[in-house]
Amino acid sequence: MFDLSGHVVLVTGSSRGIGHAVALELARAGSDVVVHHRANAARAEAVRAELTALGVQSRVVAGDVADPAAVATLVRAAGDWKGHLDGVVTTAGVFRGDASPEVGPNDFLPLLRTDLEGTFRTIQAALPYLRKSVRPAVVTVSSVLGAHAGVGGVAYQAAKAGVEQATRALALELAPRIRVNAVAPGFVRTDMNRGGHQDPRYHAEIVAATPLGRWGEPDDVAPAVRYLLSLEADWVTGLVLGVDGGVALR
Ligand SMILES: NC(=O)c1ccc[n+]([C@@H]2O[C@H](COP(=O)([O-])OP(=O)(O)OC[C@H]3O[C@@H](n4cnc5c(N)ncnc54)[C@H](OP(=O)(O)O)[C@@H]3O)[C@@H](O)[C@H]2O)c1
Repeated sequence: MFDLSGHVVLVTGSSRGIGHAVALELARAGSDVVVHHRANAARAEAVRAELTALGVQSRVVAGDVADPAAVATLVRAAGDWKGHLDGVVTTAGVFRGDASPEVGPNDFLPLLRTDLEGTFRTIQAALPYLRKSVRPAVVTVSSVLGAHAGVGGVAYQAAKAGVEQATRALALELAPRIRVNAVAPGFVRTDMNRGGHQDPRYHAEIVAATPLGRWGEPDDVAPAVRYLLSLEADWVTGLVLGVDGGVALR
C-alpha cells in the first residue's frame, strides 16, 4: 500500500518540521526526494544523510519561495535532476500570530507571498516537470486555521484559506492529468510554534481543545501526504484532508 518506488518528489521546506517528516516518509515508501530549504543548509544536508541511510537518492535545493525568480531556479534544479517530477509537496511556510493592531505595513504581504504565492509559484514552475510523469500529484499544506478561525494571525489564516481554494482551483484546472490535494494539520510540535508548545498553559489549552487529547507530531501528518501522492489516491483530487486530532470538530 502507498508504494512510491521509483518516484521523484520535491518537498519544499523539508529541512525541518513537517517537511522533514514527509521527506523521510516518502523515502520509506521508496521515493527519491528533493530536499528544499531557505537558509538552513546544514539541516537540509542532515536530512539528505537520513534519506541516504533509508536507501533512496536525494538532492538538496535552496531558495526563498517568496521570490518567484528563486522558485523558478530551485524547481528547475529539482526537475532537471531526473528530468521530471512525480510529486510536489509545498510545505515551506512561516507563521505570524500577531493581534491585528500589531500587524505592521511590512508584515502582511510578505507572509502572503511566502505561504500563498510561494505555494502557487512552486506548483506553477513544476508543471512542465509534472507533465512528464505518468501519474503526477501535488500536495499543498494548509492548516486547521485555513477554514476555522483563531484569534490573532489574520494574514496566516487568510493565506491558508487561499491555499485551500487554490488547491481546489488547481485540481479542477489540471484534471485529469495532475491531481492536487491539501493536508490541513492541527497543532503540531515544530520550531514554528516552539514558543507555544513549550509554554505549559498554551500547551494545555491545545490539548484540551484537541479531541484526541494531544499535540500532533510531524510523523502524524506525513502518512497522509504519502497517501495523497500514491496510486491508492488515484481518484482523489481537490480534497483538503484534515490531520488534526479532531480539533476542527470544535
Ligand atoms: N506546526 C504546526 O502546528 C502547523 C500546523 C498547520 C500547518 N502547518 C504548516 O506546515 C508547514 C510546515 O510547518 P512547520 O511547522 O514544519 O514549520 P518549520 O518547522 O518552521 O519549518 C519551516 C520550513 O519551511 C522553510 N521555509 C520557511 N520560510 C521559507 C521561505 N520563505 N522560503 C523557503 N523555505 C522556507 C524552512 O526552511 P529553513 O529551515 O531553511 O528556514 C523550513 O524547512 C507550513 O506551511 C505551516 O504553515 C504547521
